[in-house]
Amino acid sequence: MLDGSSVQSQAPLPRHVAIVMDGNGRWAKKRFMPRFFGHKAGVDSLVKTVLACADRGIDYLTVYAFSSENWKRPTEEVSGLMGLVLVAVAKYLTKLADQGVRIRIVGDRTEVSDKLRAAWEHAESLTQNNTRITLSVCFNYGGRWDVVQACRQAIRDGVPPDELDEARLNGYMALAHTPDPDLFIRTGGEVRISNFLLWQAAYSELVFTDCLWPEFGVAELDSALAEYARRDRRFGGVKDSVPEARRA
Ligand code: IPE
Ligand code: IPE
Ligand code: MG
Repeated sequence: MLDGSSVQSQAPLPRHVAIVMDGNGRWAKKRFMPRFFGHKAGVDSLVKTVLACADRGIDYLTVYAFSSENWKRPTEEVSGLMGLVLVAVAKYLTKLADQGVRIRIVGDRTEVSDKLRAAWEHAESLTQNNTRITLSVCFNYGGRWDVVQACRQAIRDGVPPDELDEARLNGYMALAHTPDPDLFIRTGGEVRISNFLLWQAAYSELVFTDCLWPEFGVAELDSALAEYARRDRRFGGVKDSVPEARRA
């Protein structure tokens, strides 16, 4: 027999979760360690979060790993982060691939080294047929960069101005392979977007937590999902579109 009450009590699950993984440096500082130590711990946190999202049935996870503005950091930190990508791919790619994760790298690849580009391409091609969850890693990514690169591409393709509507432009955006994020989480206590998903987060539910990224785990993910389930999404409409007078 169909148990209607249990169906009704199922919390709405976001199809797409986006995360600004912030707070690595402060986490390391609290431990009197160099910032790199925090970034390294952040990679472990990311892998745990990807698998936890997959277990919960989330289809898309998009994370902010390196922003267009993060080049402003000391050269040593920037090169440490680039090197960490290679280490992370070597350490975790097989595991993620085996777990059904499809990996996509999103951002401007022209400014990274050939070695890094090759590692990205390897990760993408190895996992391209996986379907359990899509992990998009935003690296050398900025929301403003994305809007500009999409417009440039549309112009290059000769799209007539009158035909360039929201759907058409969206097809040129770097996250065209995903639906818009339903839930946008930022760890690390700052309450700002920092140039992440400016186009795609138009109607995302925003959750900010003081938890520093290396400390983010299953409990924090579940608490963000519970918060999401309590939100009332209206997308500019009203909760119940049937006018009062027409309700029996
Ligand atoms: C986020 O952590 C990771 C990157 C930006 C690469 P931070 O490095 O910004 O850590 P905090 O914010 O300084 O603590
Ligand atoms: C945002 O964090 C970028 C990433 C998490 C990759 P930042 O630490 O760079 O953001 P701000 O400088 O505090 O706004
Ligand atoms: Mg930060």
